[in-house]
Amino acid sequence: MNILILGGDGYLGWPTAMHFSQMGHAVTVVDNYFKRHAGLELDFESLIAIPNLTRRTKAWKEITGKEIKHYIGDITDYNFLKDVFITTQPDTVIHYAEQPSAPYSMISRDKAAKTLQNNLTGTLNIIYAIKETVPNCHLIKLGTMGEYGTPNIDIPEGYIDIAHNGKTDKFLFPRQGGSLYHTTKVQDTDMIWFYVRTWKLRATDLMQGPVYGISTDESAQDVRLTPSFHYDEIFGTVLNRFIVQAVCGHPITIYGKGTQIRGYLNIKDTLACVYLSAMNPPEGGTLNIYNQITETFSVLELADKVSAAAKSLGYEVTIKHIENPRIEKEEHYYNPTYTTLKGLGLTPNLLTNEILVEMLKTVLLYKDNISVDSIFKGIKWK
Ligand SMILES: NC(=O)c1ccc[n+]([C@@H]2O[C@H](COP(=O)([O-])OP(=O)(O)OC[C@H]3O[C@@H](n4cnc5c(N)ncnc54)[C@H](O)[C@@H]3O)[C@@H](O)[C@H]2O)c1
Repeated sequence: MNILILGGDGYLGWPTAMHFSQMGHAVTVVDNYFKRHAGLELDFESLIAIPNLTRRTKAWKEITGKEIKHYIGDITDYNFLKDVFITTQPDTVIHYAEQPSAPYSMISRDKAAKTLQNNLTGTLNIIYAIKETVPNCHLIKLGTMGEYGTPNIDIPEGYIDIAHNGKTDKFLFPRQGGSLYHTTKVQDTDMIWFYVRTWKLRATDLMQGPVYGISTDESAQDVRLTPSFHYDEIFGTVLNRFIVQAVCGHPITIYGKGTQIRGYLNIKDTLACVYLSAMNPPEGGTLNIYNQITETFSVLELADKVSAAAKSLGYEVTIKHIENPRIEKEEHYYNPTYTTLKGLGLTPNLLTNEILVEMLKTVLLYKDNISVDSIFKGIKWK
């Protein structure tokens, strides 16, 4: 297949590009280096220095003989995006190209506006580019489990049947994002659902939980292929942050009681889920929504697991509860369904002590690169 990956320089985009290329597909990636620029502005960087896309794709060619094409540009620029679609004629477009950080979206009005403009205009442009150039193309969009929030009822995969005054109908499950970033994801889902109904697009919206991990089968071949790995308060996901805290002697910081439960997955499973979605496209006029997690933990459970793994390597780790900067329920019901991707063939890489030790050992190799100042920046929701 012709696969177009938007956001192909990112934490998930680059490993996804290598995975599809390895599996024999023709891969093109697009990125505007938004995240690299945000890092310069806000003082954070990947733990392991990552080459730019020109160098990454060159290294991939040298190591595997396979080609990944790339374009540097902004998907909110419609003319640029449409040209890429015309040139690449994608069968599947995988959309990772968003501002993906909840704290970033809460820093200021300007950062909130940037998040809205970037995420919503980007998604709208992709929808138009599909309609105008490749109407049969399958759109795979990365959403987040955070769209659902933490309702006091079970969370199905995307839709709910509602009985009201003696009649029933099927609706998108009610969504309630916990940050402006999450709210843009809700709006993306709504917008895609509108155009699927109106223009008969084919789309899959993946409600993904926080991802952890630093290595994939493809990246393990050479350090130049390593995914970016952020541990700062703005772009680092929780488990990746805890691993770095454990290694550099910083307390593992838990927001509030740490009883918040979320669904998580290994980066290798992200690649598998996106691949399975690409191989199982819906009919036109259908929006498939899958919950992309493999297991659930409370934040406290994650901290305990990291602490135990670090202790087995001889590190003394402390866990510190700090005032929760977010507005979120700390004690809540959480029962999401996540069976469809397993039904399509996903065999999860669950979070074992062995995986944590492997991550700790990798981070230890780059311990000197850790900038302790970027671990905590004090961004608050209020
Ligand atoms: N990483 C996670 O744990 C996680 C969890 C749930 C959902 N997601 C979603 O998955 C997607 C990818 O996440 P990630 O962790 O790889 O983020 P990331 O920031 O590492 O990757 C996104 C990439 O998109 C690029 N980008 C942003 N706006 C762009 C634009 N207008 N034009 C071109 N490129 C643009 C960025 O430069 C970056 O390289 C995001 O949509 C995110 O919301 C991620």
